[in-house]
Formats: sequence, C-alpha cells, structure tokens
Amino acid sequence: MGQSPLVKSRPASLTRGKKLGRGSWGVVYQGKLGSRRVAIKKIHEELLRTDGDQLDPIIAQFQREYELLQAAKHQHVVECIDLFSEGRDALLVMELMDQTLEAFLAANKGLTVTKQVEICLKLANGLQFLHQHDPQILHRDLTSKNVLMNKAGDIVKISDFGQSKFRPTSKEFLTSRQPGCVVYMPPEALVAEARFNSKGDIFSLGVLMLQIATQVFPTCPLTGIGVQPERERRSADLALLPEDHVLKPLILQCLENDLQARPDAFSIYFCLTLMLLEASDVSSYQCASACLIHSEQVYFPMCVSIVTVIHLQCTSHAHCLSQFSCALCLFYMHDQTSYINLSTANITIMPELCSMPEV
Ligand SMILES: Nc1ncnc2c1ncn2[C@@H]1O[C@H](COP(=O)(O)OP(=O)(O)OP(=O)(O)O)[C@@H](O)[C@H]1O
Ligand SMILES: [Mg+2]
Repeated sequence: MGQSPLVKSRPASLTRGKKLGRGSWGVVYQGKLGSRRVAIKKIHEELLRTDGDQLDPIIAQFQREYELLQAAKHQHVVECIDLFSEGRDALLVMELMDQTLEAFLAANKGLTVTKQVEICLKLANGLQFLHQHDPQILHRDLTSKNVLMNKAGDIVKISDFGQSKFRPTSKEFLTSRQPGCVVYMPPEALVAEARFNSKGDIFSLGVLMLQIATQVFPTCPLTGIGVQPERERRSADLALLPEDHVLKPLILQCLENDLQARPDAFSIYFCLTLMLLEASDVSSYQCASACLIHSEQVYFPMCVSIVTVIHLQCTSHAHCLSQFSCALCLFYMHDQTSYINLSTANITIMPELCSMPEV
C-alpha cells in the first residue's frame, strides 16, 4: 500500500491496542484515532497485491469503493472512519463496537419476542438504507459475526457492508470465498452460475432473523442447494421456531427460493414496525394526534403502501387510523429524519385514509 500515492499513510495519532479478532480479511485491533476509540482492521497485504505490476489500479479501486462506504452513514451501519496505508498493508479504521450479534445471542438466552423483533427491525432498517443508497450497496456477507452491538444490546449495526466489493477479482481464492458464510447464503449464489442481487441480502436477513428468533446458530445440509425448496432444506432449523412465532411468516418469505417472492428491506422494516407497535404499550390514540405532519409530499408513496397493509390488519376505521399514525411516528423516530410536531394545527389527514371504508 505504501507505494500508492492515493492512500494516506498511517498518522501518528492512530495507535493500535489489543487484538479483538481475526477474520478472512485480516486482524482487527482496538485502537485510538486522536482521542476517539476505534477498531482497526489490518487488511492482509497479499489480498491487495496482484501477481503482476498492477498494484495501483487495484488500490485505486479499493480506495474509490472505500470512499463510497465512508459516505454511507446510518445509525444501524458501522461507520467507516478512514483508510490508511502502513507499509504494504491497508488499515481500515472503523467505529468501535463491543460485541458481535453471535456473542450477544449466546450470552443472552431467552430473549423476549419484543427484544427479538427490535433487533430484527434495526437490522432491516440498516439494510434498507444500504439498498436504497445511491449507488446501491449490497452487503453480500450478512452473518451474525458481521452484526455488531454495544454491551447492553440496544445498539445494533451492520458491519463489513460492501466489503466483498473490495476483493480484487484477480485473486482466485477470494472469488471462490465470495459466497461468504454458506449457511446464510441464498441458493442462487451457491450454484454454478452464481448471481447475487439485493434479494440475496434479504435471504441472509431471513436466516439471521431465524437465528435471532430461535437463538440457535443456523445449520443446513450442503445438499439440495438450488433444487430443493429452502423451507425443506432448512426444516431442522425452522422446526425450532414455534408455529405461532410472530416472525415466522416474514422469515419464510425471506427464505423463498423465488427472488420475486422475497420482500424488499423496506417492507420488512415496515412489517417489523407494526409488530413492535402491536407488542408495545404505546397508546394508539395518543399517537394519533401526531399523524401525518407535513408528510404528504415526502412520504406520499410510502403512506399509500402503509395504508394498504394496515387496512388489511385492522378491525375498524378508527383502529386503522391510529395504527397508521403510530407507524408513521415510529418511522420518524427510527429514521430521525424529520421532526414530530404535535401541534394539531399542522395535522393533515390523507384523503385516501378518510375515504377508506370501514373494515
Ligand atoms: N468495528 C468493530 N468493533 C469491535 N470489534 C470488531 C469490529 N469489527 C470486527 N470486530 C471483531 O473482530 C472479529 C473479526 O472481524 P472480521 O470482520 O475481520 O471477521 P469476521 O466478521 O469474523 O469474518 P468475515 O471476515 O467474514 O467478516 C469480529 O468477529 C469481531 O469480534
Ligand atoms: Mg466481519
């Protein structure tokens, strides 16, 4: 890396502390950048080097992609802080987290369903952000090791997003490692003519949600991939999920072999929001007064789909209206994008909602 004028050299303000772990890309250390505590991933030099003299183009591509990721900041995505060179290695400086989701699940058996849904919701929100980013960011290696949390387990962030794009295609062993952790991979990425789009990440999210709901590490046979329906191939894992578990229908949808039948991240995020709402003590009528503030223009397309879903679930017009407003409030709160103005003067009810027939 030192040969490239494109990447900054490690500054003296970046110091390395104890080793946190090792992955396929390199070793992760705790460290400090100035006064900020950070995680430093030291990427193995041989992963960046080619056999010939093509070093600079690869590093340039690495850096371009890194800059893209650096710009993608979200509350449920681990922040990429900077990229430096040190000798022939690359140092990826990231936000420091306390533990992996895998470790959290192992140490906290018997999570309540509400807690399970909350974790899934945060993950879906992070993935929705990556998929809606311009240009779209595919994760391609969504596993319980690549989801990081704080000690208390209420901060949940996707990490290593888009890292698969860093893998130089000239490296055969990296391409063959491309599918990531096999139990999380969608069948279409594991067959001879492998392909991967955003619905591949959705499949992995389904496996993760199953792991969160059962608190058991996923296992599945290596046979029948792409031939047998995933619901059958993963029947042993699915059998651990209670029949009436609130996450079951969503998990099964994510595990569909047919990509079209899998929901997108936004729909998953929305459904989980509703589940949380149902499980919470929030008074719907309290929230109803905060309905649709100045949101018609920005959120109009979203509102229409929300209305459709809520309409199917509610028992009365009033119930429907309150559910709708609660869902929007939760959206606002989770996204932290806009303010909630509780002043009744600003309330506008969507005409679609008003004209909706009683259910
Ligand atoms: N930002 C971070 N903050 C705290 N710990 C981290 C951070 N990133 C990684 N770690 C720790 O370092 C370990 C190794 O991470 P790394 O991403 O290199 O490998 P992995 O996630 O186990 O596998 P993969 O190479 O497929 O991503 C993780 O399991 C985690 O314990
Ligand atoms: Mg990782």
